[in-house]
Amino acid sequence: MEQEQKKIRRIGVLTSGGDSPGMNAVVRAVARTAMYYGIECVGIRRGYQGLINSDFVMLTADMVRHILGRGGTILYTARCDEFLTEKGREKAVGTCRMLGLDGIVAIGGDGTFRGALELSRLGVPVMGIPATIDNDIGCSNYTIGFDSACNTAIECIDKLRDTMQSHERCSVVEVMGRHAGFLALYVGIAVGATSVLIPEHELNFEHDVVERIQNARLAGATHFMIVVAEGVGSAFEIATKIKETIGIDPRVTVLGHIQRGGAPTGRDRETATRMGYYAVRAFAEGRAGSVIATKEGGIVEIPIEEALAMKKHLQMDRYEILEAIAASGTLRK
Ligand code: F6P
Repeated sequence: MEQEQKKIRRIGVLTSGGDSPGMNAVVRAVARTAMYYGIECVGIRRGYQGLINSDFVMLTADMVRHILGRGGTILYTARCDEFLTEKGREKAVGTCRMLGLDGIVAIGGDGTFRGALELSRLGVPVMGIPATIDNDIGCSNYTIGFDSACNTAIECIDKLRDTMQSHERCSVVEVMGRHAGFLALYVGIAVGATSVLIPEHELNFEHDVVERIQNARLAGATHFMIVVAEGVGSAFEIATKIKETIGIDPRVTVLGHIQRGGAPTGRDRETATRMGYYAVRAFAEGRAGSVIATKEGGIVEIPIEEALAMKKHLQMDRYEILEAIAASGTLRK
């Protein structure tokens, strides 16, 4: 005889790790879809720390009104060391039981999904949603916040370019990305950078910086834009080296956390809404234990353990495209 599917009555939603524009849009979609299915939705504040500390709020229709276009996360976020301990995880499971949660939607990056896997193993059904400006989640083509962060960085660099052009200067701009160069490469192409330095490509200063600037100069450029992902090293060190080798005196800008703030773009709002909807629909239909991912424009569910093992490789053709475009006007050696 077929077993009757357990009725989902109440779920929790949390945001964890570094925030990204569009997290609020996911929270809204999760809460609204839950209401649509007649499921109560509890907002867990401060990520896994909130589960440990029983820090929560019931999400009503009013609470998620007008947050679709707001940056940050109304649920707050945290990186939680206590959850890495067995005791911490026990407390978290205790909160899930106390609240009568039939599932949790965990929004964040790799660290968030590692936490989600632990919770699943302890019997709490979890669905993960990828949200990080780094776009470095192996199982998903796209992560919420990437487009917004790119656009913020592009807007800032366009402004920098104006003054660099007036003064005929070189600019070294550091963008976020400790382990991944997706943001730097995308932004570099979009602003027409002279060179982009990313962690996935071993730095050859002579070729990647000196020759690029010299080639651009030969092609008639009077100002230069070097985009550095933070994982490559300090923009200040790169600038000093440029001064020592070429004799020009670059100006350094570290964009930092400004890239994590601001209103999400249309792409982030739309993707966030679809992902939030599919996560809750999975619960309502009796599925759990997966990350909601984008694949070829559609949405797929990938089991968390499998998702964590997947690697995403930077499309190095983009690096070649950048080189070709930046070097145009000079003869290829
Ligand atoms: O993972 C997102 C991210 O913004 C990275 O690009 C960056 O290296 C890191 O978080 C910064 O983290 P924190 O806000 O803890 O300094």
